[in-house]
Amino acid sequence: MRRGRFETKLSSDAAELNGSVAFDARLLPYDVEGSKAHARMLAAQGIISVADGDAICRGLDQVAAEYARGELELDPQLEDVHMNVEHRLTEIIGEAGGRLHTARSRNDQVATDLRLYTVDQTGKLIAALGELSRALIVQARAHIDTLLPGYTHLQRAQPVRLAHHLLAYIEMFARDRERLADAARRANRSPLGSGALAATTFAIDREQAARALGFDGVTGNSLDAVGDRDFAVEVVSACALLMVHLSRLGEELVLWASQEFGFVRLPEGYCSGSSIMPQKMNPDVPELIRAKSGRVVGDLVALLTVIKGLPLAYNKDLQETQEPLYDAVETAQLCVRTTAGLVAGAQFEVARMRQALDQGNLLATEVADHLTSLGLPFRDAHAAAGAIVRRAVERGVDLTRLSVEEMREAAGGLQQIDERVRAVLDPARAIDRRDVPGGPARARVLLAIEAAEKNLKG
Ligand code: ARG
Repeated sequence: MRRGRFETKLSSDAAELNGSVAFDARLLPYDVEGSKAHARMLAAQGIISVADGDAICRGLDQVAAEYARGELELDPQLEDVHMNVEHRLTEIIGEAGGRLHTARSRNDQVATDLRLYTVDQTGKLIAALGELSRALIVQARAHIDTLLPGYTHLQRAQPVRLAHHLLAYIEMFARDRERLADAARRANRSPLGSGALAATTFAIDREQAARALGFDGVTGNSLDAVGDRDFAVEVVSACALLMVHLSRLGEELVLWASQEFGFVRLPEGYCSGSSIMPQKMNPDVPELIRAKSGRVVGDLVALLTVIKGLPLAYNKDLQETQEPLYDAVETAQLCVRTTAGLVAGAQFEVARMRQALDQGNLLATEVADHLTSLGLPFRDAHAAAGAIVRRAVERGVDLTRLSVEEMREAAGGLQQIDERVRAVLDPARAIDRRDVPGGPARARVLLAIEAAEKNLKG
């Protein structure tokens, strides 16, 4: 590249700062595909000869094969993956290799590679999220009748089905899949032909190259196509939110695996021992998943900060958008796959959950609703149920252990409190009375599971 214009070599510190092979090597397969499509298009348009086009494609296949076999070492002196591929190609096929870069710049080349990477890897992430949701659905089906306290403020609040609790995460991950797919759809446009910034004088066929690469079409403005990385921001943003969801699930698994909760036993293959305390089985994996969210949120902030304030069009700053993109997508992929294994192997402690349900006056709302249905204003019913809870707390028992007389007395002799109240003091019944769309009633949860399964197929 320096041939001609320069007399001296790049200083070694500058070369280290400038180089990107340490991270852009993962673009090699995409770079090869992009270059093959470009070369075929050049040949079809008569810009290079068909023989040169064929030689270039054969040579590029060999470069990719050598790299896949671990035989091709990328040279940091050649700056980036693109120069490495072209260099090796020219070693293999000679002069024709020098024709590949006709009507192209590294600026539209790298933008193309990055979009190909983004679309491909986002697809893999979406598939992994599907697997995670399937693992959650298997547990939800198995635990349709497992009841546990639902929490607000981390205080026991109202009984729910474990399946309903797990389905909450399935909803989050379904939205995450949509966000990723939507971002990938917008990323899927070909920048090839945008040149360095002002397109090219050669009579290229942008649509042909775009189609060959599986893009939905071509970008609309050459300055924008080489100068923005908003497609990366969108995907990393979706990754950050996905990681925040994963982090919450991780946090819950850490809590539930504690002796204090005892709601779950995590699969051994996902737990670590302690170097000093022989009894320990530590939930390192969900802890790390929780922590990795911080790193992906950092990737998003890094990306936005690098792009902010750049004048049009390409600036070398944009090279610095690569690592946050790779890190976010690949961290998310690993965390999603690991969480799927964790969920699939989790053993939920049904008896402990049930025990927790029977302490903490979780049915106080049932009492209030019951009195309301007998004609009491809800606010008065709420106060009466509150007085009953206070009595139960004083006595050190759950309110379900109080006699009807005690309840009535605690509520100031309220006439509406009679034997009928006993019937509402059953958690399963309390749940099934919450028979509204999105609610925890058994039939609703079964419908939600079916909808989730359908959503994963569709
Ligand atoms: N490695 C570079 C990047 O990631 C490729 C583009 C180089 N273009 C340039 N004008 N120096 O941005």
